[in-house]
Amino acid sequence: MIQRTFCIIKPDATARHLEDKINEMITQNGFKIVASKRVNATRDQFETFYAEHKGKPFFEGLVEFMTSGPIVVQVLEKENAIQAWRDLMGKTDPAEAAEGTIRKKYAESKGHNSVHGSDSPASAEREINLWFKPEELN
Ligand code: RTP
Ligand code: MG
Repeated sequence: MIQRTFCIIKPDATARHLEDKINEMITQNGFKIVASKRVNATRDQFETFYAEHKGKPFFEGLVEFMTSGPIVVQVLEKENAIQAWRDLMGKTDPAEAAEGTIRKKYAESKGHNSVHGSDSPASAEREINLWFKPEELN
């Protein structure tokens, strides 16, 4: 089943100018980048986006980090895109991420881990709609 998922290139990656290298890995792995834009997000946007993590010990630092510099928000399309993108990202903590994954290659730490990916069809729909208007999606 052709599916869409939501991707963020996080501030640690844009700070190191890794956008093109990450997008090359994405397209080499058969994803179509349906939409992509660079944004400076607000605290409000990330408090909403990460609502499921509210109250966790890393929440404040996470919101602070995600608003510390530009991010690139993207919609990716592929067969089983949600799982395929999580597989390509690798485990949250780069110390546990497999060879060949984006986080193994580029993440600095469990917090500064270069990329985000939706974890379910419901999350993908919610996250895409938080960042993109219907007319931005082909
Ligand atoms: P993501 O949502 O960013 O795709 O990553 P994920 O599913 O692998 O991780 P999740 O559990 O949803 O956590 C969201 C993000 O919060 C940061 N985090 N830091 N220091 C910590 O213990 C910790 N735990 C999570 C990471 O940036 C993680 O990607
Ligand atoms: Mg997550």
